[in-house]
Order: sequence, then C-alpha cells, then structure tokens
Amino acid sequence: MKSLHFLPLFASLGAAIWPIPVEYSHGETVLWISEDVPFYWTAGAGNVNVGSGSLIYQNANIPNVLHRPRWNDDASGENKTGTEALSGDDLVNYAIAQTHRTIFKKSFVPWKFHPRDWDQPHPEEAIYISQVNLELLQDEPEDVAKPLAGVVDESYTLSLTEDGKTTIRANSSVGIVRGLTTFTQLFFKHSLGGAYTTLAPVEVFDAPKFPHRGLNLDVSRNFFSKNDIKRTIDAVAYNKMNRFHLHITDSQSWPLEIPALPGLSEKGAYRPDLVYSVQDFKDIQYHAAVQGVELITEIDMPGHTSVIALSYPDLIAAFNIQPNWDMYAAEPPSGTLKLNSSAVNDFLGTLFDDLLPRISPYSSYFHTGGDEVNKNAYELDDTVKSNDPAVLQPLMQKFVDRNHDQVRSLGLTPIVWEEMLLDWNLTLGEDVIVQSWQSDEAVAQIVAKGHKALVGNYQYWYLDCGKGQWLDFAPSAAANAWPYNDYCAPFHNWRLIYSYDPLTGVPEEHQHLVLGGEAHMWAEQTDPVNLDRMVWPRAAAAAEILWSGAKDAQGRNRSQIEASPRLSEMRERLVAKGIGAEPIQMPYCTMNGTQCQLGYAS
Ligand SMILES: *[C@@H]1O[C@H](CO)[C@@H](O)[C@H](O)[C@H]1NC(C)=O
Ligand SMILES: *[C@@H]1O[C@H](CO)[C@@H](O)[C@H](O)[C@H]1NC(C)=O
Ligand SMILES: *[C@@H]1O[C@H](CO)[C@@H](O)[C@H](O)[C@H]1NC(C)=O
Ligand SMILES: *[C@@H]1O[C@H](CO)[C@@H](O)[C@H](O)[C@H]1NC(C)=O
Ligand SMILES: *[C@@H]1O[C@H](CO)[C@@H](O)[C@H](O)[C@H]1NC(C)=O
Ligand SMILES: *[C@@H]1O[C@H](CO)[C@@H](O)[C@H](O)[C@H]1NC(C)=O
Repeated sequence: MKSLHFLPLFASLGAAIWPIPVEYSHGETVLWISEDVPFYWTAGAGNVNVGSGSLIYQNANIPNVLHRPRWNDDASGENKTGTEALSGDDLVNYAIAQTHRTIFKKSFVPWKFHPRDWDQPHPEEAIYISQVNLELLQDEPEDVAKPLAGVVDESYTLSLTEDGKTTIRANSSVGIVRGLTTFTQLFFKHSLGGAYTTLAPVEVFDAPKFPHRGLNLDVSRNFFSKNDIKRTIDAVAYNKMNRFHLHITDSQSWPLEIPALPGLSEKGAYRPDLVYSVQDFKDIQYHAAVQGVELITEIDMPGHTSVIALSYPDLIAAFNIQPNWDMYAAEPPSGTLKLNSSAVNDFLGTLFDDLLPRISPYSSYFHTGGDEVNKNAYELDDTVKSNDPAVLQPLMQKFVDRNHDQVRSLGLTPIVWEEMLLDWNLTLGEDVIVQSWQSDEAVAQIVAKGHKALVGNYQYWYLDCGKGQWLDFAPSAAANAWPYNDYCAPFHNWRLIYSYDPLTGVPEEHQHLVLGGEAHMWAEQTDPVNLDRMVWPRAAAAAEILWSGAKDAQGRNRSQIEASPRLSEMRERLVAKGIGAEPIQMPYCTMNGTQCQLGYAS
C-alpha cells in the first residue's frame, strides 16, 4: 500500500482525518455521493469478495437491516449471559445510519480551508460513488461492545477507488465503525446541496496506538442532562475514543437513582428532577456502547462521599466540618465513608448489588475511585478514631478488598485512582487498572509494580485548569490569594494537551502496561452552558495522541503545523454535528496553507 505520512502543506488542505491514520494516501479526484448509495455487507473469515456482499442499507428510512447470525452461537445450546449486551450488528447498523446522517445532514461547506477565490466542485460534472462495501474479516468476540482493553481489534482499511467503489475491511464490527467514521471525514457539503470528496483515490490503513482512549466527565459538581451526556459521547466516538468515564457521584451531589437505596438520590441530588433514573442510566450506557464506546461508571470512595450523609448520616465521618473543612477534605463539604464499619460494608454490598448488574451488560469495568482520601477525617470516625497511617492502612486494604471482591463476583474489573497503590501501599489484584493523574513518575511507578495504568497527568489533560479559583476568599486572605489562580493553572490549551506523551518516563519493557488514558472534565466551573466549549476541541487533541501516538512515523514529536488545520477541520465537523466546540484559530490561518507559523525549521 502506498503511504504518504507527510502531505505537502497545500495538498493537506481539506484532506483532514482526525485522529491521523497510520497510513493515508489520497488523490485529487472529485467524487460525489448520493443519499441512496448502497451499503453491502460481507462477513466471515476467508469469505471475502469485493462487491459480493448482501445489500443491507440503501435509504435513510430503512435503519435496521443487518441481522446476521452470531458466529459464536455454539452447539451447546447454552443461553448467553448478559442478554442485554449489544452485538456487532447493533454497532454496524447504528454506524451506517450515523454515517448517512453525518454526510448528508451534519456536514459543512469548507470555505475556511480555501483561499477567498476558491471554487467549489461543479455538480454537473459529477461522478458518483457507486457502493460502500463493508467486510468483516474474522469472527469477533461476543463481548465486542464491552471488551476489556486489547480484546477487540479496532483496525480497519478503507479504500475508495477513482471510479467510486468504497471498501472498508476490519477484523471486528468496532473496526468497521471506526472506518465509517473516517469515511465521513472525506466529505464536504456543497453550498448548492449534495456532498462530495476531492480526495479520490483514497487508501487508509489505521489502528489505534492505545486500547483505552477516554474522556472523564464529572456530573456531580454540576448536573448535566442525559442529552448533554449523549452529545458528549457522540463527540467522543467521532474522535475514535472508546471509553467514556462517568464520575457520577461526589461529595456535592448524588444524581444517580439506586432503587435499593432510594434516599441517596432523593436527598442527595441537587434537586429531585436532577437525577439519572434507572432508565436514563441504561439509555446513556446503551448510547455509548452502540458507538463502540464503553461507559465506565465511577462511584468514588471512601473520600468524595459526604453527600451520603444526607440520607445515611451514620455512614459518614467528619461531615461538613466548617470553617476549616480543608483540614479534612480537598473540597467542601468534608466527609468520608467510615473505614471500620459493618454498616458501611452492608451499605456498599447493597449499592453494588443494585448497580453493578445494571452496568455489566454494557461494560467490563467499574471504577471504585480512591483519590484524595484525607487521613484526618478518620480521627473523627468513631469506628477508628485515628489518623495514624499504620492504623488506617490495614483498614483501607480490607475496605478495598471487600469492594473489589464484590466487583469481580459481579463480573467486572476494578479500576482505582493511583493513591490506593502509591500512597496507601495497598496490595491490589493483578486485574486492577490503576488510573494516574498526578505525575509521569506515578505512571512509571504503577507499571513498575506490574499494574496496568491509565495516564492523564493533570498538568496536561485536566480540562478544568486555568479558570481561576471557585473558592471565595475572606478579605483578610484575599491579598495572599491574588490573582486567584487555581492549583493547576494555566489553562491547558490544545497545544499543551497535544504535547503530552503517555509513555514519558516509562521504560520500554513496561510500556505495554500503559493501556492509554483519559482527558478529565471536572465540573466545579463547567455546566451544560459551557460544557461543549470546555471539552471540545481540546479533548480531541488527547484523542489523537491516544489513537495515533505522540510521535509521528519518523519517531518525532507530532507537529502543530501539520495538526492545526486538521484540528480546525475537526472542529468544523463537530460544530456541524451540533457540538459547540471552540475555534482554535481564525479562518485566515487555514485559508491558504500555514500562514500563522511562528519560528523556523532549523
Ligand atoms: C434458555 O432460555 C430460555 C428462555 O429463558 C429457556 O426456555 C431455555 O430453557 C434456556 N436454555 C438453556 C439451555 O438454559
Ligand atoms: C496563497 O498562497 C500562495 C503562496 O504563498 C500565494 O501565491 C497566493 O497568492 C495565496 N492566495 C491567496 C488567495 O491568498
Ligand atoms: C486483521 O488481522 C490481521 C491478522 O489476523 C492483521 O494482519 C490485519 O492488519 C488486521 N486488520 C485489518 C484491517 O485487516
Ligand atoms: C474496628 O472495629 C472493631 C469493632 O467493630 C474493633 O474491635 C477494632 O478495634 C476496630 N479497629 C480499629 C483500628 O479501630
Ligand atoms: C506507604 O509507604 C510510604 C513509604 O514507605 C509511607 O511513607 C507511607 O506512610 C505509607 N502509607 C500508608 C498509608 O501506610
Ligand atoms: C518532544 O516533546 C517532549 C515533550 O513531550 C519534549 O520534552 C521534547 O523536548 C520534544 N522533543 C523535541 C525534539 O522537540
């Protein structure tokens, strides 16, 4: 296959795929695509013949036409577990419908990527794309929509011939989904109607660098509607991320309905209507899974739980100490689950038994949190009455062991924040994934201990940083706090996010343990009004690092000059899809090659 890693600057205008594929070459032939372009389906190892598949979709009005038998139906006649789980068919059906919608309804006229005197292609000379062939090359695992990291092969090839035949091949339905996502990025809207590409012929081979590519959204500090979350998941999927981490509870509010413990949301939600019902939670998980995005639910504990005191006051120690809450917690209100309490254990048993079976159809993971536990809070815990690490550490070990045993017994793999391993020195199961946030050294330490790690150094991938303090300072303290920067200022612009290499400081023999990472949207100062622009397109910069790697094919740091017009184009595509992503440049900078460069190649 031809590959063109570095396109000449001018040729790269309007040739933008984000994240950048492993290999990508294209020509300059214009092809149009019509709304009744037929999609053909071929599946099965060794059964591949271009164009020989069955017609499965030829009109936006016929959505679910693909119903192939599941290969993994074995002769034993045993019923499958997790019957609500999605199949590869569900993913492909959804992706075809979305492809159609994106190209024909949610596209944009790319004037910002051409000089002022630019002419659009002329529709009267149109050659049309004749077919889109989707070919699944191999049997795929049954849990294709909720795999553990690395189980599902997301690679794909995409070929668009000059005479208009498109073929996307992959080893899994998720790979087909990723290939269709790339396919949509070849097309532009014409101002007179219709959609075209200027890039035929196209050849792509693509595969992700990291198997865990995610965004974490905190929906406790501020509430986000189901539609806000779904829209964010759509953008996650469009950036070929495959994990959506929902930090769904914290000290400030408990918006998740737990039928077995109804007081949690009845008393703990900000308002009775700001709750994710059982059905809402299911819808959100389904919406992610059907796009090849696994939703990872986090109930952070034992810290970050004080809201539980509103419904179960006996379970929480050091609740809402004022005014010196900062001795007991990272944020007000202070409070932590008691550490040596059978009532807490019973509560957690009930909570997990209610919640986790509702997660397992859609995910293989459950995040038990564990960040920023404040030891002083246990001095006020009547089951412990001590802040001595030597007293607390064995209790924390028991607490986490109990939780993880139950997580496993319900078929899920636990994830914890780095403090549990690195500060509390806990012995964690080999299966446990450790999520890092404080430093690159922490990542190196996690993998040195043989654990799988997720990166997301707050100095690069925290999207909340640089907005200034949300705490109010008394007049006597205000002068010292001026100009009210937050702890992780300055604002992390996309270039900073893009400069982060998840493998920094990780020796080669441990790099396979770095599963990937997540960008984090903590929501003290973000709500539905500014959500989109706080997250996008900056999270897209993290998405490209996670899909394509921080280094280019020559092993050099990726170039902003190469990336910025593509990210600008991705931003236009997100806006066209209804996501309020910020601009990263003015049109002048993208209209005629790189005219906004500062500094010279040496
Ligand atoms: C599978 O499930 C169906 C319906 O729930 C039940 O009738 C059948 O006996 C089950 N088969 C096996 C092998 O368990
Ligand atoms: C675009 O850049 C080229 C090369 O610098 C220049 O010759 C041309 O005049 C520019 N066109 C416009 C419309 O600015
Ligand atoms: C599919 O798997 C084969 C190995 O089984 C691999 O060579 C190929 O790159 C994978 N991806 C695609 C899109 O063919
Ligand atoms: C934990 O609680 C038990 C009683 O439930 C008590 O015997 C034990 O001393 C407590 N441990 C600590 C460290 O306080
Ligand atoms: C974990 O180990 C470090 C280094 O030995 C020690 O400083 C720290 O106090 C330990 N943490 C706990 C909670 O025991
Ligand atoms: C590449 O980026 C890293 C930061 O991730 C930086 O430390 C390093 O100096 C850069 N290398 C070059 C050659 O610019």
